[in-house]
Amino acid sequence: MKTERLIIRELKIEDALDMYEYTSKPEVSKFLTWEPHLNVEQDREFINKVLSNKDKESYYFGIVLAADLQKLIGCIHIYDVNERHKRCEISYILNPDYSGKGYATEAVAAVIKWIFMTLGLRRVQALCIEGNVKSECLMKRCGMQYEGLLKNYAVLKDGKSYSMKIYSICRGGTDQL
Ligand SMILES: CC(C)(COP(=O)(O)OP(=O)(O)OC[C@H]1O[C@@H](n2cnc3c(N)ncnc32)[C@H](O)[C@@H]1OP(=O)(O)O)[C@@H](O)C(=O)NCCC(=O)NCCS
Repeated sequence: MKTERLIIRELKIEDALDMYEYTSKPEVSKFLTWEPHLNVEQDREFINKVLSNKDKESYYFGIVLAADLQKLIGCIHIYDVNERHKRCEISYILNPDYSGKGYATEAVAAVIKWIFMTLGLRRVQALCIEGNVKSECLMKRCGMQYEGLLKNYAVLKDGKSYSMKIYSICRGGTDQL
């Protein structure tokens, strides 16, 4: 996939170092379940796992700068793809060094379009921990609509339960086929 400033493609094992650049930063996984990575080997293992997974319920895309094709700046995960109900969930991470320029919005909007056009799904949902304001703003910028608060929905690294906000976007609007 190509956008104005980005290439969105499958991950490669060579992306491990760029990935480690952000997985090692505590702020990146603050609202996520995993601990910051301690070495690049963890990223290599992660990419190998992604590349060996050939099921059709999950897709990983790397976000790469079109102006510097060697530079991975984030990734997007599509998961819980449900063919029967034509829906899936999406999550995303951007290297904070590239934050505040609209790259994540550009990438996520393109991936949502790809999900509708190529996978033929009708609903994309995304969840964020209440308080993950940057994620929530991104969902809104991508045209997603707030649907409600899922109480005590996720347990984070501190062992506490957190509520999550759910947003979605539907192809052609709600209840349109
Ligand atoms: C969620 C996350 C991807 C959002 O990153 P981001 O940098 O805020 O998002 P974008 O790249 O779309 O940039 C948007 C910002 O750039 C600004 N911007 C500049 N040019 C822009 C453009 N052309 N288009 C859109 N926004 C633009 C926006 O105003 C916005 O700024 P603001 O935050 O001050 O309002 C990032 O915070 C992240 O990786 N968080 C950690 C992982 C995580 O929690 N993921 C979510 C799991 S639910």
